[in-house]
Amino acid sequence: MKTENLESVARKLVAPGKGILAADESSGTIEKRLKSINVPSTEENRRMYREILFTTDGAGDFISGVILFDETIRQKTRDGRSFVEVLEQQGIVPGIKVDKGAKAMANFPGEKITEGLDGLRERLTEYRQLGARFAKWRAVITIGDGIPTRTCIDSNAEALARYAALCQEGDLVPIVEPEVLMDGTHTMERHFEVTEQTLRSVFDSLAEHRVVLEGILLKPNMVLSGKESPQQASVQEVAEATVRCLKRVVPAAVPGIVFLSGGQTDQQATEHLNAMNRLGDLPWQLSFSYGRALQAPVLKAWKGDAANFTAAQTAFHHRAWCNSKARFGKYIEEMETAKAA
Ligand code: 13P
Repeated sequence: MKTENLESVARKLVAPGKGILAADESSGTIEKRLKSINVPSTEENRRMYREILFTTDGAGDFISGVILFDETIRQKTRDGRSFVEVLEQQGIVPGIKVDKGAKAMANFPGEKITEGLDGLRERLTEYRQLGARFAKWRAVITIGDGIPTRTCIDSNAEALARYAALCQEGDLVPIVEPEVLMDGTHTMERHFEVTEQTLRSVFDSLAEHRVVLEGILLKPNMVLSGKESPQQASVQEVAEATVRCLKRVVPAAVPGIVFLSGGQTDQQATEHLNAMNRLGDLPWQLSFSYGRALQAPVLKAWKGDAANFTAAQTAFHHRAWCNSKARFGKYIEEMETAKAA
């Protein structure tokens, strides 16, 4: 298999100062996000909202790629340009979410397994023709009483590896996303342990399935205290634990690690990325592939009102700029109140 193209797209996605916007919310998730600002989830509202993000002037200075949902990759701007075309004109690589969601795992109460492998080869071919150059598959691991189980971790790792192999066959860079949820009362140490186990299993499966590591990106969680834990780790502690965990298990052949935000506030997600990049001496690019942490201020500024179109774009530009600074470890809190550069 020729992998030069995969490798060059993967490197482009983690170019210095840039990261990925995850705008691939499934129908259920986008409905939740729009509901939070009292906007009904009609096809037109979803389209309009994504148009705000993708047509933001200068977004390509900080955003290397955008992950789209099946509906979104087929949509157009008000003036009739396809979203794929708009992104390409901004120098942004279009990507696509291809999993069919995390479903309850039979015989494993409280645990999930991600579906979507059947017919995936054909769907990848279509998405490649529509302009996608990379893909995403998310596995979900939950921490709780007696979970996660080895069976849940290994089954999800196996599915991620089968997905990644099919992507590379179809000339799409797979973003491999095993998310160990931050929900719960667990300590940061417990989150570390489960993240390490999960990543070990994922990289074992990727090797078994002959996936070329130079042509993938890893999208993990950061190592955090449980969201409901009374004891919250500091920014520096999170940064050090996360990098320590990743160094143990992520081969240096992987060009980049693009974190999910997973329910952190937008500012926390930026601070953590910044602190990690300040640690220096890293074998891979450390970047972002944020959904909520890039979009929360945009939703808040837009409120579903066309009059707020420009304010929403300014909010997006500013958040992307802050995260771009964090890619170099050059973010400071004062930037929160600064106008977008
Ligand atoms: P969050 O950054 O909101 O966790 O979303 C990233 C993502 O793509 C989850 O699959």
